[in-house]
Amino acid sequence: MKIVTVVGARPQFIKAAAMSRVLRRGHTEILVHTGQHYDPMMSDVFFQELSIPKPDYNLGIAGGTHAEMTARMLTAVDEVLVRETPDAVLVYGDTNSTLAAALAAVKRHIPILHVEAGNRLHTLLNPEEVNRVLTDHMASMLFACVPSAMDELRKENLIDHAWLVGDPMFDAFQFYRGSGKAEKPTEIITLDGETEPMPDRYCYLTCHREENTKDEQSLWQVLKAMEQLDMNTYYPVHPRNRETVIRLREQMKLQKVKLLPPLGYLQSIAMVSHAEQVVTDSGGVQREAYFAQVPCVTIFDYAAWPETMRGGCNRLARPDTQDIADKLMERPVFDQADNPFGDGHACEKIVGIMDREL
Ligand code: UD1
Ligand code: UDP
Repeated sequence: MKIVTVVGARPQFIKAAAMSRVLRRGHTEILVHTGQHYDPMMSDVFFQELSIPKPDYNLGIAGGTHAEMTARMLTAVDEVLVRETPDAVLVYGDTNSTLAAALAAVKRHIPILHVEAGNRLHTLLNPEEVNRVLTDHMASMLFACVPSAMDELRKENLIDHAWLVGDPMFDAFQFYRGSGKAEKPTEIITLDGETEPMPDRYCYLTCHREENTKDEQSLWQVLKAMEQLDMNTYYPVHPRNRETVIRLREQMKLQKVKLLPPLGYLQSIAMVSHAEQVVTDSGGVQREAYFAQVPCVTIFDYAAWPETMRGGCNRLARPDTQDIADKLMERPVFDQADNPFGDGHACEKIVGIMDREL
């Protein structure tokens, strides 16, 4: 079969790395990069480090409002579909690239395969919710990472074309952590280009969501909480809020919060795996903390990945210094025997189901 895969944002490159390896064993994959993430450390580094095949198309579309970005992607992906006439379109997660690709495909009557289906926050205030709901309702095959996502698909009467396969992010985590290339670094290069030795104990922070970055006060509260800890915090800064974070660092005279440029995936999972605590608003990083059995505090109002909350392994906090400090004090219990994210072979399962059902 000929499959057009559409990616555009950092976490989608990681999922595509795990998936393409399996998919290309028996199928032709045409890889389309919308261009949504474009800085070398937000895009190229993943293709190089993870040996992702070079995209067949780079649409070069980024920035602007949600409407502008999605509209431009819709037109550009449609042109690719007309030219390639694929048997199916494969999309991941819930970004604007996901929605645009799904809309283009459904209008051309091309089956959509949605990986990471069924996640719900039940609020349209979250900019990604509409992307994930609409994509699920347009898709022909829904691949859920976790049991709670299957429950949501059941409630929306989508269960008859949904499969619980596990999480391709866990596939990637297992594969690359086992590769020996994601060891704890002995030193780290900061955003200012300075090389510093890595301490034994540290916190890993990522914070980039629209909900937490559109208001400077939220970031201020988060940074204050981290500065009060008795260890350094390492914070790779997403380009969305780079200028604000640098300004806050000066205003707040931060000493223990060390800003980093965006990291490659191997370094990011190494930083997660060896951290004493993770504080994040990232869907990917909160799962990786769980995979690595590192306690996590997620700065968000919603449990986007309910399975990570078991045993208090992942706790929600408001963007509030005291609330984050309180949540960091709690001690979770990890259940080693039960991994709700699968067995590290989600991608094989997806391709097997595709072969059988498509
Ligand atoms: C997007 C996804 C979000 C996902 C995140 C992963 C949507 C609606 N949101 O959010 O679900 O968690 O990716 O990281 O699709 N920018 C750069 N350089 C880059 C990339 C972005 O400067 O390489 C700038 C853009 O120009 C824009 C801002 O960062 O001004 C936000 O980028 P955008 O892709 O709109 O949203 P993300 O916050 O990255
Ligand atoms: N990540 C990375 N470099 C960084 C920060 C995160 O490689 O500087 C990885 C992280 O380990 C995870 C993924 O990017 O695998 C998560 O992406 P992101 O937080 O951008 O998006 P989300 O998962 O929230 O959609």
